[in-house]
Formats: sequence, C-alpha cells, structure tokens
Amino acid sequence: MEKTTFDQNTFAVADMEAARRIILTPTAGQSTDERWEIETPYMAGLLGDQLAIRPGQTIVDYGCGIGRLSKALIERFDCFVLGVDQSEDMRALAPAYVKNAAFSAVSRRMFHQIGLRGFRADAAFSVWVLQHCPQPDEDIGLIAAALPPQAPITVVNMKRRALSTREKGWYDDGFDLRSRLAGQFREVAAGPLPDEIVTPRVAEATFWATYRR
Ligand SMILES: C[S@@+](CC[C@H](N)C(=O)[O-])C[C@H]1O[C@@H](n2cnc3c(N)ncnc32)[C@H](O)[C@@H]1O
Repeated sequence: MEKTTFDQNTFAVADMEAARRIILTPTAGQSTDERWEIETPYMAGLLGDQLAIRPGQTIVDYGCGIGRLSKALIERFDCFVLGVDQSEDMRALAPAYVKNAAFSAVSRRMFHQIGLRGFRADAAFSVWVLQHCPQPDEDIGLIAAALPPQAPITVVNMKRRALSTREKGWYDDGFDLRSRLAGQFREVAAGPLPDEIVTPRVAEATFWATYRR
C-alpha cells in the first residue's frame, strides 16, 4: 500500500458552526442544516426503538460529536447519555449544545479506564463514526467492554470506509466493518435508512444494524 498518513485534525474544530459542518457534511440533496433538522429526530426514533430506551437508563453515544443525538435522546426518553469522543474540541463544545445534567462527554482514555473499573451501560450506539476510525477493532472492543451480556448496540455507518488521510483525502482501506461487528456481537436487526430522510444516494451508501453482546 502507498504511504497514507491518518489526518488527526479532521475533527479539530474552532466553534459550534464548524463542528456541525464536519458532523453532517452537505450532500448532493441536503445542506448541513437540512440534514440536522430531518435526520436527527428520525435517528432518535430509530435508536429509541432498536435499543428499547427507557427513562433512567444509561446509554453510550460513541463518537458523540457535540452531542446531537445525546440531546435528542435525553429530551425524548429521559435517559442518561455518556458521550465518548476522541476530539477535545467536540468534547468541549458538547455540554453547551446538550445543556442537560444527564449528559457528560469523556475521552476514549477515560472511557477505557471507567470500563476497567466496572462501568457498564444499558446500551450503546455509534452514528457516522466507525467509518472514520483508523483502528476500528480497538473502538469495537472499547464499546463491547462497557456493555453487559445481552445489551444492545446500534451502528449507523457508511458501507465503505472513509479515513481522513493527508495524501488521499477520504480513503477506503477496505476494512470490513460489518463482518468485524458480527464477529464481536450477534446481529439482531439491520436495514437501510429511508430515501426521504437521507436522500436516495446516501441511503444506498449506508446501513444501520443492531447487535447484542
Ligand atoms: C461525523 S461525526 C458524528 C458525530 C455524532 N455521532 C453525530 O452523528 O452527530 C464523527 C465523530 O466521531 C469522532 N471520532 C472519530 N474517531 C473516533 C474514535 N476513534 N473514537 C471516538 N470518537 C471518534 C469524531 O471526533 C467526531 O466527533
């Protein structure tokens, strides 16, 4: 393989507006704001159904960004959400966006540590994240370690990988995320996102799937 250097700064953002633009990049048919407005409530419903979220439960939002979905879930289901994000900037912006004491954002390192010390969530989800992770086995392992047996996890992702690299921009390294997830968990449901929510082009390129430990 030719040299590819992972670009660590992709999710380094100066402010909330820049964060929104990289979290939901404009597509052929939808602006960032349109995606935010249309996709967020749909995704909250999908996650609520798939994870059977009930009031008082603690849910992990892996790759939470500024907490777009954490906020929607807390407001809709009265749950607690622990956001995890590798970007210091996203973690710093998230509390001001979510504005709820039922939310906190932590680093991957802290998430690993509290998992070692016994933290277990009721469920987890990861939306538009694993496609970008250079070492997805590590991320999958971290999430698995924070879930007790039978707890569900829902993943929403592109079918192909999109690693941010200095040499090639967004790069597909061929890693087969779905088979790796199926190796670590048991797939219990899966489907496409609706055309009318994400546009037919995005629907074709993406999937959601729910697994149990
Ligand atoms: C496209 S954004 C999606 C944010 C959020 N899930 C949403 O849908 O609004 C991807 C997020 O994943 C985070 N991320 C990327 N790689 C990660 C990793 N290995 N571990 C944790 N977070 C990661 C980024 O910093 C960024 O905030």
